[in-house]
Amino acid sequence: MKTFKEKYTDYALITGASSGIGKEFAEQLAQKGLNLVLVARRKDKLNELAIQLRKEYRVTVKTVALDLLQEDAIETLVAETDKLEIGLLIPNAGMEVHGDFLQNNYREESKVVQLNTLVPMQLAHVFGQKMTARKRGGIIFVSSTFGHQSVPYFANYSATKAYILSIGQALNYELKKSSVDVTVLSPGLTKTEMSGGMTDMDFGKMPIVEMQVAPVVKTAIEALGKKQAIIPGAINNVMDVMGKFATPRWINTNMFGFLVNRAMNRNIPRN
Ligand SMILES: NC(=O)c1ccc[n+]([C@@H]2O[C@H](COP(=O)([O-])OP(=O)(O)OC[C@H]3O[C@@H](n4cnc5c(N)ncnc54)[C@H](OP(=O)(O)O)[C@@H]3O)[C@@H](O)[C@H]2O)c1
Repeated sequence: MKTFKEKYTDYALITGASSGIGKEFAEQLAQKGLNLVLVARRKDKLNELAIQLRKEYRVTVKTVALDLLQEDAIETLVAETDKLEIGLLIPNAGMEVHGDFLQNNYREESKVVQLNTLVPMQLAHVFGQKMTARKRGGIIFVSSTFGHQSVPYFANYSATKAYILSIGQALNYELKKSSVDVTVLSPGLTKTEMSGGMTDMDFGKMPIVEMQVAPVVKTAIEALGKKQAIIPGAINNVMDVMGKFATPRWINTNMFGFLVNRAMNRNIPRN
């Protein structure tokens, strides 16, 4: 049986690697001996991480400072990785906008759709073709437990994550015949810059527990090649099972509407 490194060698390409879940993927994959391509906008953060990982794990790390919302982002990334064999793709970069949908700026909401759905789809298309040609590789999509529900006040964000869950599960089936593994990771609330930035939200008022990035990422890596989709954390899984089987979807939506509305303080300015 092939080892993880043999299956997904030579390089893992991780978007959103400058912080949070993406940074942790970089750490855990370097530990497994994979070389890395790290993508995000903040060049200093990427370079700092690259220096640490090269030193600690003796892997090759390439950094690409890139705004994935710019028009030619995919072409740029393809050109930057032209000579590398990308064996594992993790289109993890994401953003959120929450609050009353009609009060939000629709241009910002459009960026959420672009970064959270179009970019991962396009990356999966481009790098998926190269992987299927080699009959080897893997893709870990990053959805959210909010993608398993319709979540009022995160209406657009949760819809983008539902898209990712859907396309990821479908591609798991489609690419299997080419020996390309696809898994969708759906984290619940996880301690990162994203969750820390939601200063107007008191998540203590919701029946959820914030997880650390390490177990979230470990769960995803372990699920690759075994599961279509994975939710890390016992409480997140209980909530998911209840949402899917114990209550009809409309009740779930209403319950989340009540809970998020209660947790949101509209007097605190959002970051
Ligand atoms: N934290 C949670 O509770 C949670 C729960 C469920 C799902 N998720 C998902 O997990 C993924 C990672 O989020 P996180 O929680 O780790 O948040 P994070 O710490 O804020 O990381 C987001 C990453 O995306 C990058 N990014 C944002 N906009 C970008 C752009 N335009 N171009 C290139 N890179 C960009 C950021 O880097 P730069 O700023 O340097 O560009 C950063 O590396 C997201 O898809 C998120 O939706 C998070």
